[in-house]
Amino acid sequence: MSHPITIALSKGRIFKETLPLLEEADIRPTEDPEKSRKLILGTNHDDIKMVIIRATDVPTYVQYGAADIGVAGKDVLMEHGGDGVYELVDLNIARCKLMTAGKNDYQPGSGRLRIATKFVNVARRYFAEQGQQVEVIKLYGSMELGPIVGLSDLIVDVVDTGNTLKANGLKPIDHIADVSSRLIVNKASLKMKHDRIQSIVDQMRAAVK
Ligand code: ATP
Ligand code: PRP
Repeated sequence: MSHPITIALSKGRIFKETLPLLEEADIRPTEDPEKSRKLILGTNHDDIKMVIIRATDVPTYVQYGAADIGVAGKDVLMEHGGDGVYELVDLNIARCKLMTAGKNDYQPGSGRLRIATKFVNVARRYFAEQGQQVEVIKLYGSMELGPIVGLSDLIVDVVDTGNTLKANGLKPIDHIADVSSRLIVNKASLKMKHDRIQSIVDQMRAAVK
């Protein structure tokens, strides 16, 4: 028990799609987070536990070493900046795209645009690269409403099938980045607990399709 390991995961698609990869590393939670109110789950190893947190909080836990290992979407990592963590494996799960979107009748014009998004850093960087002046409005969800209620001209959000955009009278416009979930590791943990973590990383990497 000299080097206990903590793995940070979010509920929902990341948890579901990471489970089979962890299974390949012989790591299985003792409970189903969808059915439990517990935030810390035990595993089949006494010295490995999982913390169940919001998807956007995973890089923060790993950055500060509150978790040694985590799984986070590239969208979340681009927004967070990735300080203090190594991004070691593309797990090829929870695949989607970061895109801009606007109303079906949106026409690009001149002048400053209003962008509603939870990805404020990504949006600022992207539009600066395009040489486009923008005012970024921070939202925490349901970005698709922004253009419909006149809060913004465009949104920046993740798109998979495009069904959410379509259902809300929006169209995808520009592709910002391809997104999939990444295995991240705290930099100090990788040094201090190298053999244990490297073995988990290698087994998960081998399990990726
Ligand atoms: P939070 O709870 O922190 O607000 P969230 O609600 O975005 O996060 P999830 O919906 O579980 O959390 O998404 C987790 C990750 O899965 C996202 O960061 C993104 O990388 C990916 N993702 C989001 N939506 C989709 C989708 N429709 N299809 C595939 N992958 C997606
Ligand atoms: C995400 C995201 C988009 C939507 C995009 O929401 O915030 O709104 O998925 O996916 P689509 O292009 O396939 O519609 P959420 O996590 O609620 O999606 P979910 O309903 O698939 O869980």
